[in-house]
Amino acid sequence: MDEKRSSFSSSLGFVLAAAGSAVGLGNIWRFPYLAARDGGGLFLVIYIILALTFGFTMIVSETAIGRRTKQSALTAYSKLHKGAKWIGVLQCVVPFLIFPYYCLIGGWVFKYACAFMTGSGSAAAEEGYFGAFITDSTQPIVFNIIFLLATAVIIYRGVNKGIESLSKVLMPVLLVMVVGIAVFSLTIKDDGTRTGLDGLKVYLVPDVSGMSAKDIFYVVLDAMGQLFYSISVAMGIMITYGSYFRDDSNLLKSVNQIELFDTVVAFLAGVMIIPAVYVFLGEEGMRSSGPGLMFQALPIVFSKMGALGNVIGAVFFIMVLLAALTSAMSLLEAVVSNFIDAFGWSRRKAVILETALAVIISTVVCLGYNLLYFDVKLPNGSHGQILDIVDYLSNNVLMPIVAISTCIFIGWIVKPSTVIDEATKNGEKFGRRKLYIVMIKFVAPALLFFLLVGAFGLI
Ligand code: PHE
Repeated sequence: MDEKRSSFSSSLGFVLAAAGSAVGLGNIWRFPYLAARDGGGLFLVIYIILALTFGFTMIVSETAIGRRTKQSALTAYSKLHKGAKWIGVLQCVVPFLIFPYYCLIGGWVFKYACAFMTGSGSAAAEEGYFGAFITDSTQPIVFNIIFLLATAVIIYRGVNKGIESLSKVLMPVLLVMVVGIAVFSLTIKDDGTRTGLDGLKVYLVPDVSGMSAKDIFYVVLDAMGQLFYSISVAMGIMITYGSYFRDDSNLLKSVNQIELFDTVVAFLAGVMIIPAVYVFLGEEGMRSSGPGLMFQALPIVFSKMGALGNVIGAVFFIMVLLAALTSAMSLLEAVVSNFIDAFGWSRRKAVILETALAVIISTVVCLGYNLLYFDVKLPNGSHGQILDIVDYLSNNVLMPIVAISTCIFIGWIVKPSTVIDEATKNGEKFGRRKLYIVMIKFVAPALLFFLLVGAFGLI
């Protein structure tokens, strides 16, 4: 099977596919809000430091495991060490759990893109629109299935014709759209009291007034949680994409480029969203994050821009749709390639089976807002429905466990040289070598441990 394995045709193909995975809803609906809440520039500085240390360590490790073993997570770990199979199993469970509900949210984005494209963006700004849509018995299911099937068709086409060729087109388009909206956002003025540039200050100027050391520690944890989610590690994706990375290409350089792309888009999402929300909804409006920001606050902002708002809204939601699609592709590919590697299935069989399962699971998750509605309190204190339970389990519990295990496995069992040798096998220089070793052995597992403890509501 090894010699038949597909590979990205160039480093650029790999970088854009991995950046496509990394740039997703998290960059757009969570990063700007955390930055605004956590002292503006302070959060940005901490985030960048963590990206260069923690983020770098995690992505290099997973990509190297993939390239070295030429396997997806399920079989990659056991190929390195028999006793580590269970980490591979968990790495495979995570994308399996996330894919269905990620498509569900992709379906919501698709619905909003359609609303703005057909000129009815102002209806989306009305109170109750979002709630009525997600609790509807059919609409969210239909949009979800269309999004899911589109993803499946791309993955069915394979690594080169599907993922790589599409990422090479979509990622540059996405970047142009983000820059365009960000520039527009800075030029906004309302009735003269607040301007886009004032909003930019809220975003950029570090505000540590009244912050204690403990508050700063929480900012570090927020930045770390956000980064961890954003770089698509601990879900089998980077291992799978690494397994398609050419042996003669520079892994370290590519990892830096992925991080740069991901961070630039997250940063620009803030430039795009914060000034606009600040001008039209003030400090109050900036407190909404997650689905509330994307599906409730932003449509109001667009409606206040008048006729132009519909156009900007359409561009915005199409851009988010592209970001969600490339992330969903990476999730499905992670699951499918696990099936292919572990069970010797054809791509066709793996895609069809996983798509059918995901349609069923995501429909159940959709119905969590309708027929199957119930409300539970999660250990981290938040309330939620089926989607939130699955999200909590995968993101807050399983992913930190997987990542801690990976760090301990590499740091202490197979040793960091396994990764370093792989990353330098063409004579490349491993620039942050010492830092990498300290991070993988001590700092990264410790930071991740705090995240996990936080998930249980203990801090
Ligand atoms: N990294 C993506 C983001 O920032 C999230 C993601 C989740 C990507 C699941 C792939 C899979 O939004």
